[in-house]
Amino acid sequence: MKVIALNSSPRGEGISKTGVLLDALVEGMREAGAEVETIHLRQKKINNCMGCFTCWTKSPGVCIHKDDMSRELFPKWLEADIAVYATPLYHFTVNASMKAFIERTLPFLEPFLIKVDGKTFHPLRQIPRQQWCYLQQGSRSNPCLNSSPHTLTSCSARVCWRKSTGRRPKC
Ligand SMILES: Cc1cc2nc3c(=O)[nH]c(=O)nc-3n(C[C@H](O)[C@H](O)[C@H](O)COP(=O)(O)O)c2cc1C
Repeated sequence: MKVIALNSSPRGEGISKTGVLLDALVEGMREAGAEVETIHLRQKKINNCMGCFTCWTKSPGVCIHKDDMSRELFPKWLEADIAVYATPLYHFTVNASMKAFIERTLPFLEPFLIKVDGKTFHPLRQIPRQQWCYLQQGSRSNPCLNSSPHTLTSCSARVCWRKSTGRRPKC
């Protein structure tokens, strides 16, 4: 099983708490036999989505940008069975680097809308085999991270961490 583990903290190893959380998860996944690649988004060039919709019109499935996202990360993300989104909590949601990554996955969506079970959405371009795991690090003063991000709605797992007590969070 292939796993792509994305860490969007701008802070380096040994400082980033998101990194501490992610390392523990990755270690467990490897022990369970998964092939995991950790990617630090701070080391990658990911341009902002221009909102031009070229990936829906002129070049279906292909973004106009030629950067690390289109050359390396998007193909790896497509290949992965599980994508882990590890982000620090910034202003009640994912941080800007993670948001930029998520926006750049637009080529994966079909341009039209369908309705299933009363919900309207863009279908995915390929058979969705990918599971998403969502890992978020916030400050200790806000242990329940009470603002679930709106951007990640599929199969997401929220992990809260209490460094001070080590107890399992109630949320
Ligand atoms: C710009 C900014 C916004 C933040 N917003 C929140 C927030 O809304 N809620 C929260 O609990 N912590 C917030 N924090 C604290 C970070 O989530 C916390 O410092 C986290 O441990 C950072 O992760 P890192 O160590 O992996 O970089 C914010 C920090 C920054 C720099």
